[in-house]
Amino acid sequence: MNTTIERSSSLKEQFLSDILEGLQAEPKFMQAKYFYDEQGDYIFQQIMEMESYYLTNAEMEILATQSGSIADQIALANTEFDLIELGAGDATKSIHLLKELTNRKLDFTYFPIDISAHVIADLEQRLPTQIPNLKITGLHGDYFEMLKRTATESGRRKVLLFMGANIGNMSIEEAEAFCAELKSTLSAGDMLIIGFDLKKNPKQILAAYDDPAGITSDFNINLLARINKELNGDFNLKNFEHYASYDPQSGACKSYLISLTDQEVHVGPYATVHFSKNEYIFMEISQKYALKEIEKLAEKTGFKIQKHFFDGNKYFVDTMWIVEQQTT
Ligand code: AVI
Repeated sequence: MNTTIERSSSLKEQFLSDILEGLQAEPKFMQAKYFYDEQGDYIFQQIMEMESYYLTNAEMEILATQSGSIADQIALANTEFDLIELGAGDATKSIHLLKELTNRKLDFTYFPIDISAHVIADLEQRLPTQIPNLKITGLHGDYFEMLKRTATESGRRKVLLFMGANIGNMSIEEAEAFCAELKSTLSAGDMLIIGFDLKKNPKQILAAYDDPAGITSDFNINLLARINKELNGDFNLKNFEHYASYDPQSGACKSYLISLTDQEVHVGPYATVHFSKNEYIFMEISQKYALKEIEKLAEKTGFKIQKHFFDGNKYFVDTMWIVEQQTT
């Protein structure tokens, strides 16, 4: 077997075992990372274009209007660095920062990391034509494996970017563990820039995840369709309905699929799963934060806040953290 086939068969085994684990759990759940097959990527693009999904425009505004100040903060240390973006996607937001950093003639290499090989190939081909003089090395794979690789390949200062409110798709405990693990790969003077969606009017938040056109519903239901296609499942897609909720106190926006009837679903020969009428599958969390909670997270995981960058409405923040010199 060549390595590509090996990798895709082990990814499929992992997908199957994660889906079975979630469907056999009480209550049932699915992992949101599996939303993003080709059709899921396409639906997510549509979500980002929705009027009610304010997150994309808010963060785009920050990068489009404040990349100069972000670049100034990065340049303060006056040393060469690696700019490593976790989940780079199409880099439509980070391109503003890349331009500012290149215009300042700073010595850096951009390492976009993405789980999709296609995304990385596209960035490596496209970005140098848009930003002449950009040094770019794409990395395709798991965030932490790739981070370790950049650490062994270069001893330069690190600036990590983790944008798009992707941290919101972790519970607060998972976000703490994630930030602490990032910190463990960094050294004094390294930086982390993270995008958080802020707590705001609950109706506005809920509207972003419960659109009347049903695009977010399609996004969730598509994971059932993916199980049917890739794992030989027999979900009747019409028997499930999307339900979104937002709790202003905890800041947890959660989405579920509700079974509309008593039913049995098969996942190939591997499992028969019973659903009662009105039983739910927990699909995704999109955690919202107050600024104080973000500051607590930074402190708890060993970072010092350097600066916050907000959009004009204060819907969103890209916060810049730094690893302080240890004093013994
Ligand atoms: C990718 N992530 C930050 C999105 C979010 O807002 O939680 C995923 C999403 N799910 C439903 N709409 C958007």
